[in-house]
Amino acid sequence: MRLSEFFMPTLKENPSEAQIVSHRYMLRAGMIRQSSAGIYSWLPLGQRVLKKIKQIVRQEQDRAGAQELLMPTIQPAEIWRESGRYDDYGKEMLRITDRHDREMLYGPTNEELITEIIRESVRSYRDLPKMLYHIQWKFRDEVRPRFGIMRGREFLMKDCYSFDLDYAGAKKSYNKMFVAYLRTFQRMGLKAIPMVADSGAIGGDMSHEFMILADTGESEVACHKDLVDLNIELMNLDPQGDHQTVVDSLTGYYAATDEKRDAEIEGTLGNDLAVARGIEVGHIFYFGTKYSEAMNAYVTTEKGEDVPIEMGSYGIGVSRLVGAIIEASHDDNGIIWPESVAPFDVGIINLRAGDDTCDTACEDIYAKLGDAGIDALYDERGERAGVKFADMDLIGLPWQLIVGPRGLKNGVIELKSRATGEREEMTIEAALNKLNSLAA
Ligand SMILES: Nc1ncnc2c1ncn2[C@@H]1O[C@H](COP(=O)(O)OP(=O)(O)O)[C@@H](O)[C@H]1O
Ligand SMILES: [Mg+2]
Repeated sequence: MRLSEFFMPTLKENPSEAQIVSHRYMLRAGMIRQSSAGIYSWLPLGQRVLKKIKQIVRQEQDRAGAQELLMPTIQPAEIWRESGRYDDYGKEMLRITDRHDREMLYGPTNEELITEIIRESVRSYRDLPKMLYHIQWKFRDEVRPRFGIMRGREFLMKDCYSFDLDYAGAKKSYNKMFVAYLRTFQRMGLKAIPMVADSGAIGGDMSHEFMILADTGESEVACHKDLVDLNIELMNLDPQGDHQTVVDSLTGYYAATDEKRDAEIEGTLGNDLAVARGIEVGHIFYFGTKYSEAMNAYVTTEKGEDVPIEMGSYGIGVSRLVGAIIEASHDDNGIIWPESVAPFDVGIINLRAGDDTCDTACEDIYAKLGDAGIDALYDERGERAGVKFADMDLIGLPWQLIVGPRGLKNGVIELKSRATGEREEMTIEAALNKLNSLAA
């Protein structure tokens, strides 16, 4: 992509409405624009990151054995009356009436809809287990939408639902998602800590929120300090395994969201206690037969008995993740994207656009990167070098290729790492080789 053609309306000044760094940088880099309170358009640069995040989420859901479907955003009120949640949800639910006076709503979540689908087509124990997910927009009329897309009213969520015959099966599904979540966040360069979360009326210990520690987090969380630096090998795990060892090795440590903190345990931890603010990027939840009983989703067991299906639900805040990654990875000059979610792999800065030698070298690099399948953003604008450096740092591509007349005279260009700031002089060929090997 040539920068002069790319729609990336950057802002020079810090927007006054933005209180946290991710919101500031997303507006300044031209990633999003607010449409109304808590509702945003995703401009091309933001949309590119969102797509990368969705792709990682999708790959890890698929790997865990979940299957993707797509449910609508608009749902009928009836099914929410069946579960009893139509009134409970209160003002957070956006209620709509269609032209035939039928009560509809913009889905804040999908337990009812998926349960309706399952009860109509799943009758026998032979049809289980199943895990189904989609990535779809949600609407919750939050009292206080804030921090940009971090707490929006319309936001993109991955929500997965598991259906099992019994508790043992449900626990296995829960563990699969637990591990899929750890892998998902790790691939995005994030350290997400699973913490015991409120499990509502059901009780039990099968509800975890995945928290990113950041000063700008909305809630205060606490955990054993060893958990913060714990590294567990996840990438070689057998997707078919029950993952109990991995889950146990993490849940063995104290880690609690604000509603679940325990002063007594914290007192015994002393210096081993870490208290910090956290951003919730995911939430997994076992709720047993709450919806299947209320909505009549039963299966026949091998013995011929009818039993309600055991269920769980598993959410990831896909759009919130864009902000969470920025909160976790930035400096004073802008965003520092992990390679896996960067909107482009590399930026090319032509320090003297209009100069034949520079233009020819840049065009050559740009074409070769394209051939190698490396996504480049080429700044060929007639701007001053300072402006180009500042913009490139702001949008945070992992690598920058800096091409100027002085270097080219000696046959070299500069390769800069956004994360470390290190700049290395090398030939064009060496730079291309290095980027190729990183992409491989
Ligand atoms: N208003 C919101 N804006 C952006 N993301 C949200 C919002 N509400 C929830 N999410 C994301 O969706 C995930 C699943 O939602 P859920 O656990 O049902 O939300 P909550 O805990 O806020 O009730 C959360 O972990 C969070 O990452
Ligand atoms: Mg939650």
